[in-house]
Amino acid sequence: MTLEELVSYANRYGFVFPGSEIYGGLANSWDYGPLGTLMCENIRKAWFKKFIDESKNNVRLDSPIIVNPRVWEASGHLKSFNDPKVDCVACKNRFRADKLIEDSLGIDADGMTLDQIDKLIEDNNIKCPSCGAHDFTKARTFSLMYKTSQGVVEDSSSTVYLRPETCQGIYIDFKNVQRAMRKKIPFGIGQNGKAFRNEITPGNFLFRVREFDQCELEFFCKPGTENEWFEYYKDFCVNFLKELGLKDENLKLYDHPKEKLAFYSKGTTDILFNYPWGFDELWGIASRSDYDLSKHIEYSKQDLTYLDPETNERYVPYVVEPSVGVGRLFLAFLLNAYENETLLNGDTREVLHIHPYLAPYKAVVLPLIKKTHSEKALEIFKLLSEEFIVSYDDTQAIGKRYRRADAIGTPFAVTIDDDTLENGNVTIRNRDTMLQDVVKVSELKDYLRGKLKY
Ligand code: GAP
Repeated sequence: MTLEELVSYANRYGFVFPGSEIYGGLANSWDYGPLGTLMCENIRKAWFKKFIDESKNNVRLDSPIIVNPRVWEASGHLKSFNDPKVDCVACKNRFRADKLIEDSLGIDADGMTLDQIDKLIEDNNIKCPSCGAHDFTKARTFSLMYKTSQGVVEDSSSTVYLRPETCQGIYIDFKNVQRAMRKKIPFGIGQNGKAFRNEITPGNFLFRVREFDQCELEFFCKPGTENEWFEYYKDFCVNFLKELGLKDENLKLYDHPKEKLAFYSKGTTDILFNYPWGFDELWGIASRSDYDLSKHIEYSKQDLTYLDPETNERYVPYVVEPSVGVGRLFLAFLLNAYENETLLNGDTREVLHIHPYLAPYKAVVLPLIKKTHSEKALEIFKLLSEEFIVSYDDTQAIGKRYRRADAIGTPFAVTIDDDTLENGNVTIRNRDTMLQDVVKVSELKDYLRGKLKY
């Protein structure tokens, strides 16, 4: 599936629409439609289930988007959450300078100084990807932080920022959570929520956007045990993805080279997914030592150390952080599951072989003949919707309704016909095998519960 095909598919079926469309759009902003919203909810639910609820160590948190701006001084974002940018003098388009060099020369420019960047652009006479001109402004740093103000007076003392990552809210509440939940190291705090980055070159549909949803776990451990937990969470994330159906051949691990790591980092590994433009980052797993908590100790002057009740040792915990964007997971799961399948009889069907746990609807209820079977079908819809997210479809011929359900990944189609009225049986068609089971209405919930187990 190409990216264009994916965008069109997502729009056609109500997964994702262009943002602010009736006003001519807003660059790189996207609305999750009814099906996209359901699927993202399921992705978040799966993440919370596996990373928090099924772990005896981990708990959740929900901290605000806007926090005391000192947080961003301590974290280093105000000083160094920048990308180098250049503007094309002819067409005025703005580019991330390191990416421009990478795309034009195949050189990794990450971490280069502004002078080095200017020299490379000049020496190689790099051309503007938009208009082809060869005239760029000098490279300058560009802050990715969204600035706004809080309160009734707009002056420098009211400046606040939209968070560019959710994890800082976790660090600053480390002590509260540890105390209130009587947690012993090792333990983790996970949070999901919106993050904002004024990216210079967003793009590739949902891959790089300026407003996105992150799921982050900060796992606090004893110094010296971080490698063990780093390995543990790498495996854990890969297993999470595979259990939800991501194919082996679509995944790769990339270890950041030692010389590229920040001085405090003990290692970073990205899980890459095979997007239409090639393997690219899906999930980042970082071993961050005690850097973040130590910075908050320094700036807040609060004691965020941990006293081990068994050994009486006091230390600043080390952190292992798996961090992922829900939009990237959404992209990966869609791309991985979509198939334009040719059937044995030569017909084709669009089908989304998505894991039932992630599927927007778990089942669709279909009255075979609208006039005759609707009343019973609506009764069954009501029964199922007490427990599952299901849809109801009484339009068009049954074959077309099956196709639509296949295309949006609905794992089960429950057909109500004369046999339902006479004997209380429904037919359940499986999306992937297209085989049918006959089940008693009284056993329908149990049947689905068993099939949807995750
Ligand atoms: N707290 C660490 C952190 O935020 P990151 O590598 O900058 O690390 C983590 O981001 C994850 O968030 C990425 O692996 C990606 O899944 C997602 N992400 C980051 N920037 C994004 C953007 N502009 N659009 C969509 N997702 C993004």
